[in-house]
Amino acid sequence: MTGAATVPIPPRFETQRLVMRRWTDDDLAPFAAMNADPQVMRFFPAPLDRAGSEALVARIEAQFDQLGYGLWALELRETGEFIGFTGLLLQTFPAHFTPAVEVGWRLAQAAWGRGLATEAARQALEVGFGAGELDEIVSMTAWSNGPSRRVMRRLGMTHDPADDFDHPRVPERHPLRPHVLYRIGRPPSA
Ligand SMILES: CC(C)(COP(=O)(O)OP(=O)(O)OC[C@H]1O[C@@H](n2cnc3c(N)ncnc32)[C@H](O)[C@@H]1OP(=O)(O)O)[C@@H](O)C(=O)NCCC(=O)NCCS
Repeated sequence: MTGAATVPIPPRFETQRLVMRRWTDDDLAPFAAMNADPQVMRFFPAPLDRAGSEALVARIEAQFDQLGYGLWALELRETGEFIGFTGLLLQTFPAHFTPAVEVGWRLAQAAWGRGLATEAARQALEVGFGAGELDEIVSMTAWSNGPSRRVMRRLGMTHDPADDFDHPRVPERHPLRPHVLYRIGRPPSA
């Protein structure tokens, strides 16, 4: 099932080190700075400019309104600093596994290497399998995105090479077009 949550999902969660919440206008500047960082965006065809970054937040917020879950803005509990997003995104582009709900993440460089993406993603999976009532959650990335694939493995997601696909939104012959798909099923306890 990839529909709207049938029970209300709180707009804000806390994990051990993070706040996961809906977006505010104060996030727009640090989010744009992060999306303009070529290192953060090295597995995407191009960085995003400020307008593209704001349009993405608008799309993210629209999905929250529609489904009750989405890509939560992440804030460090200790400092209140915005560090990126992690959450659930409904993917409807044409592919053998869509429509599907994807767990995804993008963090500013200063927040890498501390287990924060995995911590947030575990919470996102819990919401997706709990209130979201999803039977399966996927994750996808460019074949060469080792850091992201390590997060997927840490979450217990599995990769079947038969699921590999060319992302239709990446230009043909672009080196980032070949993608891997990881999957995780609803745990028996959820
Ligand atoms: C993908 C991305 C979120 C991964 O971030 P990350 O910090 O490496 O991932 P995690 O939060 O799982 O952290 C794990 C790393 O922190 C280390 N770590 C340090 N303290 C830790 C702790 N307390 N708990 C867990 N891990 C810890 C782990 O050893 C691991 O490092 P390793 O992968 O070098 O072994 C980050 O690289 C990113 O935002 N990249 C740009 C955007 C992008 O590519 N997004 C995905 C597109 S599909």
